[in-house]
Amino acid sequence: MNVLREAKRLLENNRRTTNGYQYTIPSAEHYPYQWLWDSCFHAIILAQYDAKSAKAEIVSLLSKQFENGLVPHIIYWQPGILHLFRWGVEGTSSLTQPPMIAYAAWEIHRRNPDGAFLESIYPALLAYYTYLIEKRDPRDHNLIGVINPDETGEDNSPRFDAPLSAAADISYADHLALRTQLVEHNTACKFDAELCMREFFWVKDVPFNAILIENLRALAHIASFLKHGDGEHFANLHAELIADSMRERLFADGVFWSASGKDYSLLKVATWAHFAPLFAGLYTPEEANALVETHLMNPDTFNAPYGIRTVSKQEPTYRAGGYTEGFSWRGPVWMSPHWFIYRGLLRYGFKKEAAQIREKSLALLEKSGFRECFNPETGEGQGAKGFTWGALVLDMNDE
Ligand code: GLC
Repeated sequence: MNVLREAKRLLENNRRTTNGYQYTIPSAEHYPYQWLWDSCFHAIILAQYDAKSAKAEIVSLLSKQFENGLVPHIIYWQPGILHLFRWGVEGTSSLTQPPMIAYAAWEIHRRNPDGAFLESIYPALLAYYTYLIEKRDPRDHNLIGVINPDETGEDNSPRFDAPLSAAADISYADHLALRTQLVEHNTACKFDAELCMREFFWVKDVPFNAILIENLRALAHIASFLKHGDGEHFANLHAELIADSMRERLFADGVFWSASGKDYSLLKVATWAHFAPLFAGLYTPEEANALVETHLMNPDTFNAPYGIRTVSKQEPTYRAGGYTEGFSWRGPVWMSPHWFIYRGLLRYGFKKEAAQIREKSLALLEKSGFRECFNPETGEGQGAKGFTWGALVLDMNDE
């Protein structure tokens, strides 16, 4: 199989248009709607060879922005197919997802300069990042909170077991029920995120904040290009403030940990979240060296035969096989963490290690096809088929 050609074909097959809005669904069989960070991944890949579709992806995503600035994590363009309405309010979810939109937009422009496109989406971008900064940080401590694990994109990661009161061996259905209950609470709170975080679930997550920092920098580039001095200042300032706060409150034993609640208790579960800050350059070069050597390349923890485990093999929650009912973030290899780690490694000049991740990603797709996630020990595919994230290998290069 020519994996790179297949990747492009998959994105094309999963392309949909509703009411004039074009977008790509993550998997025809399992995920027939538009998802936030998935669309950003699609846009980043499409930016290389189909700028028009890349822009359409972002425009569609922003078309359902809430009045308060939130961009919902799912848009149910053609409702009624799945049970996924549980996240919903009138046609969209009421949660968000890792805020990759500014990065994707800047990537489109970097490869295909188009100031008019940037100008057309700039107000929506600014409103979205302003919402996150103003509404998800009630105490102005410069760490952005998520109100549900699904906002991190890592729906059932064991990072969230303690704040959810979930047992290590919880079933897929029971886990889902806990997250669904949070949506009900959110509805009862009338979507007042501050109130909801205080009462029910308030996690300052490492990948979410690291991704936000890098996206605020992209937003600053966009604002600077468009000569919006205030926006540039706002985005750079908050990128810096969040980075400082992550160092102050989330850094311990040489790595970053997510934290929960009012007292910032660290959620000491070793997951790929340790590596996410490489993407935003949050480790010093010395720390990054130690991280790569002791954690990333360590076969006993993260470095599996078929890729980087999303949860360390030493954790009691580690499950290579995932759930029989579907996907799992409790150990399996996923392509988006691979991509974030790949980009982070390149940022620090770890070319050999980055190349290894690319090779393993390609090998997985060759062996098991475009699956949602993979068993790190055997390479066996799990979850959805025809899942688009494998196409991120097209952006594992240093162009
Ligand atoms: C799963 C993933 C989530 C992704 C969604 C659509 O729920 O956990 O990250 O956005 O599928 O692909």
